[in-house]
Amino acid sequence: MDRTTLFEQYGSHVNAGKIDVYERYGLDAVMGGREGIRFRDAYDDRSWINCHCNGGVFNLGHRNPQVLAAVQASLATQDIGNHHLPAVSRTELARRLVSTTGGLLPGVVFGVGGGEAIDLAIKVTRAATGRVGVVSANGGFHGHTGLALAAGDAAYRDPFGPNPPGFSQVPFDEVVAMDAAVDDRTAAVILEPIPATLGMPIPDPGYLPAVQRICRERGAKLILDEVQTGLGRTGRMWAYEHWDLEPDVVVSGKGLSGGIYPISATLMTREIHSLFDTDPFIHISTFGGAEPGAAAALAVLDVVETPGFLDHVTELESRFTAGLAGMPFAFRHLGLMMALAFPAPDAGMFAAKLLFDVGIFAVYANNDTSVLQFLPPLITTNEEADEIIGIVRSVFG
Ligand SMILES: Cc1ncc(COP(=O)(O)O)c(C=O)c1O
Repeated sequence: MDRTTLFEQYGSHVNAGKIDVYERYGLDAVMGGREGIRFRDAYDDRSWINCHCNGGVFNLGHRNPQVLAAVQASLATQDIGNHHLPAVSRTELARRLVSTTGGLLPGVVFGVGGGEAIDLAIKVTRAATGRVGVVSANGGFHGHTGLALAAGDAAYRDPFGPNPPGFSQVPFDEVVAMDAAVDDRTAAVILEPIPATLGMPIPDPGYLPAVQRICRERGAKLILDEVQTGLGRTGRMWAYEHWDLEPDVVVSGKGLSGGIYPISATLMTREIHSLFDTDPFIHISTFGGAEPGAAAALAVLDVVETPGFLDHVTELESRFTAGLAGMPFAFRHLGLMMALAFPAPDAGMFAAKLLFDVGIFAVYANNDTSVLQFLPPLITTNEEADEIIGIVRSVFG
């Protein structure tokens, strides 16, 4: 199938609107071969450095050899497995994930994608508190499934009927608004530590600790959506470590898959997890924690926990900060959770196109189109970082 036919067929059967946008802006990439920080076009010799990484799916680059080998080894003898039965890899993964929280969150429930894991986080905090209210941030994004969708932007849920009761949203990084929104009917506050879709605003150092204090005072649970910020993206295993937080629930997805086999996880306190002591089948996911996914995630943890790995992320942050100084955008960053914030509306969209044409794939922030999300893989070498910096400077300098 040639490119033109592929675009026609994709438009006819998968998503006409996407094809329309791609054609209008000349974004005609079709993913072909891929390795490390790059992917190639399926039809010609163009290639792109992936600074989108699908929001962290490709934290460890494309087809990371360690993750690939682990999944291949799993597939040599296993299949998805059966969620009704314990499995060695799934159990080991649960243990390893718990240990990343220092035992703070000893309960783990596996899922397939982020939205499902967020839904579960909301369900279990409602069960634990006997309350319904869920407070989230305007412009945040937690997925397009049921309760995750309900906690997100009206634009994505209004076409599908009335929102379920109990959900409210407040501006991010405003303690006063959060203080007013959380009361004795609030089951949970759910936040991304750095909301990606909102353009990666780095919160004031006091904001998340204040939100935690408000939750504690009023008996609400704090859910942190670390689907993008987790697993080393900010230079720590979990972003919450930057603020010494003790969340009640942490949700992981995307990068947990190593980009090879989908898996997500909801980590929670013993108190919240005790729901499953008496009601083990209150929530199931047929494919959640599938054995090849558990193998992928274990390999991801092996890589991220390799001594020096997180230091390299922080070193790269300094390298990008120095290298991108003096550019006509504000540089937002915590580790490699980075964004280029331009002064003009929609400039993030234009920046994405300009970079696409010179071999960098990056995507604007949907809820603040002046911002370009900038997420190179965590395995980017210093030399590759310099190459990326050079390209960005050549476009915007
Ligand atoms: C912060 C955040 N939470 C949740 C999700 C939902 O994850 P999924 O698309 O795997 O359902 C996303 C997806 O982009 C996300 O960025």
